[in-house]
Amino acid sequence: MVSSLVTGAVLAMQALVGGGVHLRGIVVDQADRPLGDVVVELVQPGAVLPRMATLTASDGAFAFDSGDVESAVRGRASLDGRSGLVVDRPGAGPVVLDLTGLRGERIVQRSVHLPGGRIRVEGLAALVPAGRSGVFLVRAREGGSGAAVVVGGLGARPEALRWLPEPVPAARAMTDSVAPGLSLRKAGFLRRSVAVPSLAHDAGRLVLARDPLEDRVDSVLSRMDLDDKLGQMTQGVIGTGSLDLGASRLGSLLSGGGDSLPDHPALQDVALGTPRAIPMIYGIDAVHGTAKVANAVVFPHHIGLGATRDSALVRRVGEVTATEMLASGTDWAFAPCIAVPQDDRWGRTYEGFGETPELAAMLGAAEIRGLQGARVPWNVIACAKHFVADGGTTWGTGTQATPLDQGDARIPDSVLRRVHLPGYVAAVREGVGTVMASYSLVRGVRNHAHRDLLTGVLKTELGFDGFVISDWLAIGQIDKLDYASSVRQAIEAGVDMAMEPNQHRQFLATLKTLVQSGKVSQARIDDAVRRILRVKFRSGRMDSPHLPRFLVDPIGAPAHRAVAREAVRRSLVVLENDPVAGVAPLPLPPGGTIAVHGSHADDAGLQCGGWTLGWQGKAGKVPGATTLLGGLREVLGTSRVVSQATRVADAKVAVFVVGEPPYAEMKGDLEAAAFADFRPDATTSSLMAAYRTAGVPVVTVFVTGRARPVATLLAASDAFVVAWLPGSEGAGVADVLSGAVAPSGLLPVSWPLNSQPIANVGDGRAVAFPYGFGLTWP
Ligand code: BGC
Ligand code: BGC
Repeated sequence: MVSSLVTGAVLAMQALVGGGVHLRGIVVDQADRPLGDVVVELVQPGAVLPRMATLTASDGAFAFDSGDVESAVRGRASLDGRSGLVVDRPGAGPVVLDLTGLRGERIVQRSVHLPGGRIRVEGLAALVPAGRSGVFLVRAREGGSGAAVVVGGLGARPEALRWLPEPVPAARAMTDSVAPGLSLRKAGFLRRSVAVPSLAHDAGRLVLARDPLEDRVDSVLSRMDLDDKLGQMTQGVIGTGSLDLGASRLGSLLSGGGDSLPDHPALQDVALGTPRAIPMIYGIDAVHGTAKVANAVVFPHHIGLGATRDSALVRRVGEVTATEMLASGTDWAFAPCIAVPQDDRWGRTYEGFGETPELAAMLGAAEIRGLQGARVPWNVIACAKHFVADGGTTWGTGTQATPLDQGDARIPDSVLRRVHLPGYVAAVREGVGTVMASYSLVRGVRNHAHRDLLTGVLKTELGFDGFVISDWLAIGQIDKLDYASSVRQAIEAGVDMAMEPNQHRQFLATLKTLVQSGKVSQARIDDAVRRILRVKFRSGRMDSPHLPRFLVDPIGAPAHRAVAREAVRRSLVVLENDPVAGVAPLPLPPGGTIAVHGSHADDAGLQCGGWTLGWQGKAGKVPGATTLLGGLREVLGTSRVVSQATRVADAKVAVFVVGEPPYAEMKGDLEAAAFADFRPDATTSSLMAAYRTAGVPVVTVFVTGRARPVATLLAASDAFVVAWLPGSEGAGVADVLSGAVAPSGLLPVSWPLNSQPIANVGDGRAVAFPYGFGLTWP
């Protein structure tokens, strides 16, 4: 039986492992002068991440050698489509396959001898003992080595059998070696791609041409005096900032989470009236649609989009967001957040796409593509945030009287690079205009003062040629007792524009003194302003300062709502659907009364979460939104849906919509006790029990910004659906519950057990449901 498992052919890893990689070349400018610090990436068409990257030396030379690749593929395993497990390793030998139940109990263990390289192991379903049904976890382990790689799940019932396509692109890019190429970039030069005939190749001298845009940047820069330049480096907030836009020549304004919206045309006219007439750009937290704006479409928060695994959809989300932003007078989204949250107790977990770098890279790049568009001029300016490792802070280190938020990521460089950096690699490759520094620290150093990370890694190693914006009043946190020192450290570290709401004047005066006394160099100022102007040119603002006008107001347009509704459908993850008297509760039956209850059933504010209308979000109405109850009425027909407690036995199925209250940064962190085992209130619990006693199946829809232990709630339910924070289009939930659309969402995070609240894919800890899990029905 064991030998028959290995039916897949041995796919030699084309040149990658077999022949090795020996690529070299020299990069020069048009005058044949060597160019140092050019980012050279070995890429595969369509892959989100490069396979390898390097910088040219000062003589312009670069080289890739095979040793790098071998270490990159060692021990990788992934599931391939529906049928097989793919294992990649350089050496041959025994591999232990472990099948466990979701609660960690061993089902079966087999040791198979596999040749080296890339092989595909098929027939895993045959390993499941007869009579066992359900979903199992498959792990592949190198014989001898202790480290287990969780690679996915397998269901014995054919309808529940889901191969989990994880890990996603990064791993695939490593292994599916076809037609690679080189991609070259350096700030001030046009990007260039070069096809390579083989991986053992000398590319010779490769010429990079200067970007003609730089001449326009130069010409503006040459006319600016110090006040113009420092003004460009400063962002004020609506109110104090907008009143001082002209006098202080501010480069940008923002509306923060709780602020009102701008009169863009009037403000832009003020900017155009300043001595150099440089247009301003206007920033807003459009992190799930233009959700600050009444009647705008509110998309699922990122964690829900992570469950869709659909980059084309996320790109459309970005496009719609951009259109609604422009119509509301803003052209710079502080999005996407590409945090990779490692601890679900963090209150910003929902702002990230999920717990793996693959999701951040794949979906972050897609959102940037949607927000900015595929060519210059952009739709709006995107901002990848928060650089870096904001999702990797250590419990107990938070600096806002919070356990995690704005804390210290006490992680080795290897983890920072493997988990938290790939999203930025993809964002920079996608051409993201701006990056926001993180409030958090990395091993004791504030990101805002981290020269090695901001200038060394982001700008030099990754070749980011846009600008870095500081976070809201974050500069002053560097040295709370010495603002001048904070400003100097931030600017020297690589912050180019300062978000200093209500204290932009203090920032300007401080930076001016630092420059005049030689403590901050003129060259650093010019570099910052050059970056800002570059982005303003690419955004289109330099040539058309006023935002496009639309014939018809696009805010909340039906076509936009349709995209959001699709995103909601695709984001739902079904964790449980246990038959009651032989019938699965979902999809809902075609006839009979559906009783709908729970705190979150008819409240758009709760289903939208934080960063909606206001900063932390709140319960209550959201103009233009459809609640989950409203959606069920729309899809099932009003007469079938009752929301008052009538006679429980009259219902065919009871749907309970419960979940978390809204929250955002600083306030959303949960202490361990609050995080453990989410329980609905006593009335809801007893109503759930009453339905079950009467033989009525109970379906729970969980509205949440994160995965959290739910053992009690699961036990009280026959079916369990995670809706995340779906946003304004509640009917998307009804589309799935009703059976109109089959569920397809996959967990973007590991779902924790009560006893083991923190777990991430690959760490070997027991989970309630693994990363990538999600049931469907035929
Ligand atoms: C948040 C950012 C946000 C900014 C502006 C900060 O507190 O950390 O994510 O973009 O405020 O509202
Ligand atoms: C603002 C947010 C900001 C937060 C940080 C709030 O008042 O509205 O945008 O992120 O303060 O302190």
